Amino acid sequence: MDQKIKNNLKKKIFIKTFGCQMNEYDSNRIYDLAFAAGLNKTEKKEEADCFVINTCHIREKATEKVYHEIGRIKKTFKELKKPLVIVAGCVAQAESDEMIKRESYIDIIVGPQSYHKIGDLILNHQRKKKKINETEFNVIKKFDELQKTPNLENKVSSYITIQEGCDKFCHFCVVPYTRGPEYSRPIQQIINEVKDLINKQTKEIILLGQNVNAYCYHENNKKYSLAYLIKELNKIEKLKRIRFTTSHPLDMSDELIDCFKTCEKLMPILHLPVQSGSDKILKLMNRKHDIKYYLSVIDKLKNKKENIKFSSDFIVGYPSEGEKEFINTLDLIKKVGFINSYSFIYSARPGTPVAKKEVEGTKNDKERLKKLQDILLKFQLADNRKYINKSCEVLVENKLKDGLKFFGRTKFMTPVKFESNNCKVGELVNIKVTSYNQNGLFGYHDNKNIKAA
Ligand code: SAH
Ligand code: SF4
Ligand code: F3S
Repeated sequence: MDQKIKNNLKKKIFIKTFGCQMNEYDSNRIYDLAFAAGLNKTEKKEEADCFVINTCHIREKATEKVYHEIGRIKKTFKELKKPLVIVAGCVAQAESDEMIKRESYIDIIVGPQSYHKIGDLILNHQRKKKKINETEFNVIKKFDELQKTPNLENKVSSYITIQEGCDKFCHFCVVPYTRGPEYSRPIQQIINEVKDLINKQTKEIILLGQNVNAYCYHENNKKYSLAYLIKELNKIEKLKRIRFTTSHPLDMSDELIDCFKTCEKLMPILHLPVQSGSDKILKLMNRKHDIKYYLSVIDKLKNKKENIKFSSDFIVGYPSEGEKEFINTLDLIKKVGFINSYSFIYSARPGTPVAKKEVEGTKNDKERLKKLQDILLKFQLADNRKYINKSCEVLVENKLKDGLKFFGRTKFMTPVKFESNNCKVGELVNIKVTSYNQNGLFGYHDNKNIKAA
């Protein structure tokens, strides 16, 4: 065995993850890479020899949050040996060596497109005791390298990144700058990784990308789309459920919409961020579509899959959003009846076009956010209420800590906690729902063999 790896044996790594599901996938892969370099994962931060903060830059105070986190690490390790501190993710990409200059407690900066080098970076740091900044964009190399290290994830529901980056340049968003241009992973590489996961515990695959439905891989003059990939995955017998996120309305092709009808494993819920219900604001945001178009996509999907449900992201208080435009957004929510959505107050991000303009935001954005969230909550509760006294199909993800109950999700992603004396993790079971709250459903395992929704 390599002497450097030997030296790492018994060392432990802890990762604190912020941001989107893609960051969760990345953190999981960083654990795999660290393991290959001789470092074991720990759940206890105070045990860490190597402490990674995987950061998100999407909204305000992102950078300050990282420095606060470092303050907390310093406190935790005050009486202990200082761990190797690595800042990864989108703040690392955006701030680069500024961070090392400002905070000497940081040892390594590594961007989202260079973390495949993390094993070497750790070893180099141990050897040379020099600060390292690695923020190159080399996404092809990243996935080629990652492929050589097995994905050790062993869960019922697993994420897999299939597409990265963004070419859309919405005027409020940092992603095109932190993750770089759109890139789609080779189709076979993805299928191999999915099969590996299925050979362990995985029964549900969630395909990830900042613009997952823009997935398009070219090889030997052939084009492979997300629809193609879903159709391939749908054939894998042991796989029970397929989902994908996050989609841009412009990239909802007819072929992809058709998959909701033809692929029975593709779950009937779609996260389709709209951001605003006003054409004027959508234009200012550079979203490249209007509400009429968005609703036409929703209609097409409903025509293919009658019971499909939708979730979305909303931004309130975007510069120039008046009362009228805000009401347009509330009207859209009432029209579509979204469940399980996210909403945020607009936050000016450094480097984005809208942040550079001297435009005034709305002053009552907190009030607007509350109003919007109240309506979203009403729809969420109404949706959860519909399950009462009915049976629904749940994929069992894990046993709860109390050792008696289980946790799983409906086809529509709604969380369910339930009692059962004979179900197994990884099974699809019928759950009779007895109560609900805004976060999910509660019930018991219904052994009668009835067809569940
Ligand atoms: N690619 C996805 C969204 C990725 S970012 C899409 O196009 O829909 C996730 C969400 O964060 C966005 O949908 C948006 O609602 C929110 N967001 C992004 N930038 C923001 C900003 N500057 N201020 C507030 N919310 C923001
Ligand atoms: Fe950001 Fe827009 Fe790209 Fe989504 S589509 S990641 S919101 S720039
Ligand atoms: Fe955040 Fe980067 Fe994801 S900015 S939302 S971690 S792509």
